[in-house]
Amino acid sequence: MIQIISSTNRPGARSLEVANIFQGYLNKCGENSEIIDLQKINFSILDGSQYSENQPESITNIKAKLNSARGFVFVVPEYNGSMPGILKYFIDHWSYPDTFEYRPTCYIGLGGRFGGLRPIEHLQGVMGYRNAFQFPERVFISNVWTTLKNGTIDDENVCNLMLRQAENFIRFIHALESQGLDANSFIKSKIKGH
Ligand SMILES: Cc1cc2nc3c(=O)[nH]c(=O)nc-3n(C[C@H](O)[C@H](O)[C@H](O)COP(=O)(O)O)c2cc1C
Repeated sequence: MIQIISSTNRPGARSLEVANIFQGYLNKCGENSEIIDLQKINFSILDGSQYSENQPESITNIKAKLNSARGFVFVVPEYNGSMPGILKYFIDHWSYPDTFEYRPTCYIGLGGRFGGLRPIEHLQGVMGYRNAFQFPERVFISNVWTTLKNGTIDDENVCNLMLRQAENFIRFIHALESQGLDANSFIKSKIKGH
């Protein structure tokens, strides 16, 4: 299963609309996916529990999905020149290496003039440091408040880029899986003791 991460908990987030649109493109390509909406996770307790064994159940259930995902698609808005703090906080609950290492990842940014270029590059720094496999075709949705209308993208070029990104990300995952180089194969081989 591919997990699409809507990377903010802002009520009424456009990121969630974009995540839904991208899920439609994956469906068109015959690929199953789920959306992880950060708004649905209970982050109310900022008590440091992310660093311990006692993470809240709302997180551990999602981590099980992340740790067996065929890949992640991050839909990330620009907040003050970077990714939303809640996304980094969410990531700080993950397990290294299992959640990150060799995990195929794909990126869609949204924002003003630069279409979320900065948050995506910051996030790629994090995921690159943690040895994820990063699919190089990124999509940036500029001036998202005019490009996105009633849950659809009013720009044919962006729609075509997202469809091609969905098709090629699936091929990227298949290529890694065929060589046993994806995160799930790596975890399986560790369990077998290879
Ligand atoms: C807290 C906050 C900070 C923002 N900072 C920026 C920014 O630095 N650059 C930019 O282009 N847009 C910025 N925006 C605009 C958002 O990228 C835009 O509203 C986008 O729709 C937000 O994604 P969301 O709807 O999923 O929350 C900011 C929005 C918010 C809420």
